[in-house]
Amino acid sequence: MRFQELIHRRYSVRDYLPKEIDPTLLNLILTAAQFAPTAANRQPFRLIVISTAGKQDQLREIYDREWFVNAPIIICACGIPEIAWVREDGKLYLDADIAIVMDHVSLAAADLGLGSCWVASFQTERARDILQIPDDAEPIVFMSLGYPAGEPEEKERKPIEELVAYETWFGQIAESH
Ligand SMILES: Cc1cc2nc3c(=O)[nH]c(=O)nc-3n(C[C@H](O)[C@H](O)[C@H](O)COP(=O)(O)O)c2cc1C
Repeated sequence: MRFQELIHRRYSVRDYLPKEIDPTLLNLILTAAQFAPTAANRQPFRLIVISTAGKQDQLREIYDREWFVNAPIIICACGIPEIAWVREDGKLYLDADIAIVMDHVSLAAADLGLGSCWVASFQTERARDILQIPDDAEPIVFMSLGYPAGEPEEKERKPIEELVAYETWFGQIAESH
């Protein structure tokens, strides 16, 4: 699939078919995560791949949505702050790294005909307990994966002029002349 088509094809899938994901496809998706760029190539992420079959009750404690617990696979993306790159002024780039890794996951999934959805509003302490995540790792985002049961709705996005400025911050050139 061409990349331009792929970015429009990907959407947040919140309804999945009860169909398993072939391990070969899952490996391709995880390899996309492995090859994602990270600041200073620190790769400060660890992924926990969860097969949801038979675990729905526990997973509901992490994020209480039927579509989430019924996706065949859920990935928990954890960051390790101690090994992430920190800029001179103290800014930690862990969240940026995790976002890039999981964007690779969602786009690789879409390329293979699979759907995904980011989940940030999960119960962090329940996730830590259930998945046995140690204190030096932070669960940052979950992502559901599976075959979409429905069709995408039209995407709502801000107009590009509101999002992109050229040369300087929005309107600054016009106002200074
Ligand atoms: C960092 C992040 C966190 C998100 N957390 C949630 C979430 O907790 N629950 C949910 O249903 N969707 C979540 N989403 C999905 C967004 O709502 C969705 O990406 C956005 O509305 C744009 O729609 P689209 O993905 O279909 O293009 C999250 C997306 C991102 C990037």
